[in-house]
Amino acid sequence: MSLRAENAEISNENLEINLLIEAVRKKYGYDFSGYSRASLKRRIKKTLNESYSTSISGMIHRIIYEKEFFDRLLLDLSVNVTEMFRDPLFFKAIKEEVLPVLAKQSSIKIWHAGCSTGEEVYSMAILLKEADIYNKSQIFATDFNEVVLSKARQGIFPIGNLRESTRNYQKSGGTGAFTDWYTAKYDFAMIKSTLRKNILFADHNLVTDGVFSEVDLVICRNVLIYFERSLQNRVFRLFSDSISTGGFLAIGSKESIHFSNITDEFEQFSPAHKIFRKRK
Ligand SMILES: C[S@@+](CC[C@H](N)C(=O)[O-])C[C@H]1O[C@@H](n2cnc3c(N)ncnc32)[C@H](O)[C@@H]1O
Repeated sequence: MSLRAENAEISNENLEINLLIEAVRKKYGYDFSGYSRASLKRRIKKTLNESYSTSISGMIHRIIYEKEFFDRLLLDLSVNVTEMFRDPLFFKAIKEEVLPVLAKQSSIKIWHAGCSTGEEVYSMAILLKEADIYNKSQIFATDFNEVVLSKARQGIFPIGNLRESTRNYQKSGGTGAFTDWYTAKYDFAMIKSTLRKNILFADHNLVTDGVFSEVDLVICRNVLIYFERSLQNRVFRLFSDSISTGGFLAIGSKESIHFSNITDEFEQFSPAHKIFRKRK
């Protein structure tokens, strides 16, 4: 293939992807234009191959006319990988460094943004219980994908996944028996209702939706990595406007607030674990 023909093909593919993004935005209101192109392209191609669609343009027709096809694409685009006590040393830092500060307050408000199927949220709930501050805590857990949110609300997970998380729980400094936090039934485990009562799962899109007020701790891990710089800045502004003075922001190990529009508003609190504190 000549270089010219190759270039023409690349730009056609980009054109099709732009049209697909536009169709999704106009028809369903989800805006992926600020997502990192390389990973978006990989995900669209994955759906293309697995759905036996003829082309990206062919996918656009299906997106418009088949809601189930769009739901499937949304799942592929949103990358929902998660687990309980993912990066246990991060949770250890929350337990040993952040919670003792929050424990001094009369009430605690936490926001998990991009919570996926809820494992991260239930891990936090366990920490709050073990620190005996759960009752004065309110947790908002949000995602833009209803499918994962409804799984999160149910709090039912394959038992094998939870068994595998036991070591993570211990590494994070868990003091009790991990099995105390769920009820096993056949191949599944249900998170105990005492852990669920102060958690509110809600639909919230970081691209288009607004702030939460006076939050003491925002946790948004492994979400910003999929966004380009300008969208990251929008989301950082949202977080900074949501966090009360002296409150905390925790992001994923591969994510950074350096060179963002909120760098000066936060100080390093636990740099190794990407935990920042809003300046007084
Ligand atoms: C890889 S998961 C991270 C789950 C969890 N925070 C963790 O670290 O284990 C990324 C989540 O971000 C959500 N997400 C992606 N874009 C979003 C957006 N614009 N608004 C809200 N959630 C979004 C996805 O639906 C997905 O559930």
